[in-house]
Amino acid sequence: MKRRILNIACIGAGYVGGPTMAVIADRCPDISVTVIDLNETRIAAWNSESLPVYEPGLDEVVRRTRGRNLRFISQREGAAAVAAADAVFISVNTPTKTQGSGAGKASDLSYVEACARYIAEHANGHTIVIEKSTMPVRAADTIKRILATSPHGGTFDVLSNPEFLAEGTAIRDLEKPDRVLIGGEAPEAVEALAEVYARWVPDQAILRTGLWSAELSKLAANAFLAQRVSSINAISALCEVTGAQVDEVAKVLGSDSRIGPKFLKASIGFGGSCFKKDLLSLVYLCEFYGLTEPAAYWQSVQDLNEWQKRRFAQMAAAHAKKHGGVVAVLGLAFKKNTNDFRESPAIDICNHLLAEGVMLRLQDERVDPKAFGEVLVDEVKAGFSFFRDVEEAVRGAGSILVVTEWDRYAGIDWAKLAGQANPGAVIFDGRKVIDQDKAAAAGIKVFAVGQG
Ligand code: NAD
Ligand code: UGA
Repeated sequence: MKRRILNIACIGAGYVGGPTMAVIADRCPDISVTVIDLNETRIAAWNSESLPVYEPGLDEVVRRTRGRNLRFISQREGAAAVAAADAVFISVNTPTKTQGSGAGKASDLSYVEACARYIAEHANGHTIVIEKSTMPVRAADTIKRILATSPHGGTFDVLSNPEFLAEGTAIRDLEKPDRVLIGGEAPEAVEALAEVYARWVPDQAILRTGLWSAELSKLAANAFLAQRVSSINAISALCEVTGAQVDEVAKVLGSDSRIGPKFLKASIGFGGSCFKKDLLSLVYLCEFYGLTEPAAYWQSVQDLNEWQKRRFAQMAAAHAKKHGGVVAVLGLAFKKNTNDFRESPAIDICNHLLAEGVMLRLQDERVDPKAFGEVLVDEVKAGFSFFRDVEEAVRGAGSILVVTEWDRYAGIDWAKLAGQANPGAVIFDGRKVIDQDKAAAAGIKVFAVGQG
């Protein structure tokens, strides 16, 4: 039987659920889209002028669609939306488990399971349930088992439709994706979802696979991307001690069409809510199936990342302790163009510096300072303050650490700032964004990743 999706509910109004549903609503004016979340403050923010997620272009998409065919409601009001939906996306968090079997590696599916129970309880007739969250391979089995307990005899198809957007470019990624992936068993359900995307994605970019391949492809894609960052960061350390330049090496590597130029930017280490958790989830899956060597291989990608962050923090701390003990940290977000600082290298680096007794002057373009302060270790909280201006942040600093590649940092007028920082101040550029000529002209030395 041909199925059509005209009514969508999405559980989870986070960095994925909000932007993804806004773009679906924008591209499909005839489809009604309702986004549901437990977090009422977040829902209120989605309904306000100050959205909870900062993404270039998101405000405009939400302005066009909210109140037309897109609405954000709290979970207390969500039952009717699920009952009316032809398709329900599950787009909730799947963090690393902190307790029980697999703690520290396996994905915590409790939020997903709660969604499946909620859908089982409220769905009506036939519903297509879509995994948008990143799941371990075979998670759909768990969802199906829960849905089978539906008290009203509801029937379901389960699809895996993982999201590949990157923060900071989410709207562009959603509007012009490299590919959309739909994994499933029932062709009618797969095609019903494909028809939604087909409004703006060419059919050859809509990949259809089995459920398990779709689930695993998402984890594998993130692991491959993270592996490239760890590979170039491993090379960056060797560049620093040999006089090779990591940008030059990356350019040579990237011009080999088999390697390609993307994801070869050496950095202070990758951050974000997904690479680490997805790598660890993959490690856990390998271990679970007795695949010791693959588990060790993927673990090493994560270990290299920890090492890269640590060596930067140690370098900056050693310098700071000899030069007045004050460090300016430019950038707290895990990358530019987002307000997200989950697993940002800035967290570990700041905590290391604070533990070494260094005073921090923190600056970021979008991160909420109060929320960032809350993730720094308790006993050392007194040692930091926040500034919106770079000029203020560098005042009295003997070391200036660049953690995020915000565009603004490339244009810093170091001649103007030289008098604010301590004499002999050094910039530790973990992103290679600083204009080194300008800094040198102002008498400020730069240590850049992969350059020394
Ligand atoms: P998030 O933490 O920003 O949002 C998740 C939301 O789900 C939260 O607002 C939370 O309150 C809500 N929620 C949790 N349990 C709920 C329940 N039972 N009922 C209603 N609401 C509930 O997470 P995110 O960054 O949007 O990520 C969601 C999923 O997408 C994860 O699996 C992640 O791995 C994956 N993913 C994330 C990105 C990204 O860039 N952030 C990209 C691709 C895939
Ligand atoms: C990543 C993937 O790129 C998305 O495809 C995926 O959907 C998403 O994870 C997810 O599953 O959550 P995201 O983490 O938002 O997206 O951002 P990326 O652009 O991948 O950057 C991740 C981290 O790697 C950042 O800290 C970034 O600065 C760092 N990075 C990236 C580098 O250090 N060097 C690079 O060359 C590229």
